[in-house]
Amino acid sequence: MEFTLQENLNIRVGVIDQFEELIEWSQMQYHDLPWRYERSLYGTLVSEIMLQQTTVGTVISHFERFMNKFPTIHKLANAKEKDVQQAWRGLGYYRRAKNLHRAAQVISSKHQGNIPENFKDLIKIPGIGEYTANALISIGHRKRALAIDANIERVISRVFGYETIKGPQNQKQIYQDFTRKKILDIEVNYRALNEAIMDLGRTYCQARKASCELCPLSSVCKTKKAGNPLDYPREFQAKEKKKLKNLHLLRVLVKNEKGVLLFRRPKNKWLEDQYELPTFALGKERRTDQYPQLRFYKNYKKLPQFKTHITDHKISNFVLATKDDQIIDCKANYKYVPMSELENENISTATLKALERLQQ
Ligand code: ADE
Repeated sequence: MEFTLQENLNIRVGVIDQFEELIEWSQMQYHDLPWRYERSLYGTLVSEIMLQQTTVGTVISHFERFMNKFPTIHKLANAKEKDVQQAWRGLGYYRRAKNLHRAAQVISSKHQGNIPENFKDLIKIPGIGEYTANALISIGHRKRALAIDANIERVISRVFGYETIKGPQNQKQIYQDFTRKKILDIEVNYRALNEAIMDLGRTYCQARKASCELCPLSSVCKTKKAGNPLDYPREFQAKEKKKLKNLHLLRVLVKNEKGVLLFRRPKNKWLEDQYELPTFALGKERRTDQYPQLRFYKNYKKLPQFKTHITDHKISNFVLATKDDQIIDCKANYKYVPMSELENENISTATLKALERLQQ
């Protein structure tokens, strides 16, 4: 889309007004989020890592508990890894807990517990990537930066009509335009601006639903004007989209007076280090190198089942419950964990679900 100089000027003034309105809307609606009404740089680090890959709703119920358990960066740095993993329970993607712990240790030891203010120093800290660094600069330190997550990418792509294909390339383009002040060249509180755009992406400007009639930016939104906001950010043709693979897994729940039979997930496999029930891939056409294959189990579809997702797999879990561990061939890596100790261990979500099934 090309515009004349006068049009560009009008658009620029309009954009400033509308972004200010957006910030007002966000502060009215969402200042009660637990990581917003009481601010600290450490709280921002924790919440931003939690909010990657996890919804605001889920983070709300975990953030305060985690902060009560580890109220300072030093407390977190000095905690045992197992306790950090345990406090992360329910949030999933446990690698983030490891990264957060590691980041806290480095900030505590190398930066006297002070979270650096500039990108160069932040990015050197293990566990802090580009997104988190920019979130800490803008939301934490209130300096000019844009923490481009999927929500910000979507809103900016729609408002300014970015034609680049969604993903790293598009995010890089947005970031470059932002640093060169081609977009969002406005004097505002950058904490408020980032949060407001994230709020908009989560509510009125969702991937499959755009509520333009409610959106504070609709009068300056290029794609709203063109009538096709849902076509942005641009995507590859749907047929090129990766399809989820189906996988059928047998979860063997051996529970007796010794506890529950579990094994620790190996390094460099899914759910590294988490405890799982003995698990086998079923059906010869659904292969995976994540679990040993169990070829012959004809009637498994009659077992109680539940669904989970992992990476690009849609998993049907079938639960075989028994007291007798003789049905497991290879016991080498399995061990009984007493029921009373399960609380303290890092147990995979599917295993927790299978245990819940048994209790029903
Ligand atoms: N998503 C990522 N960071 C967020 C934040 N600070 N507020 C709301 N949603 C977010």
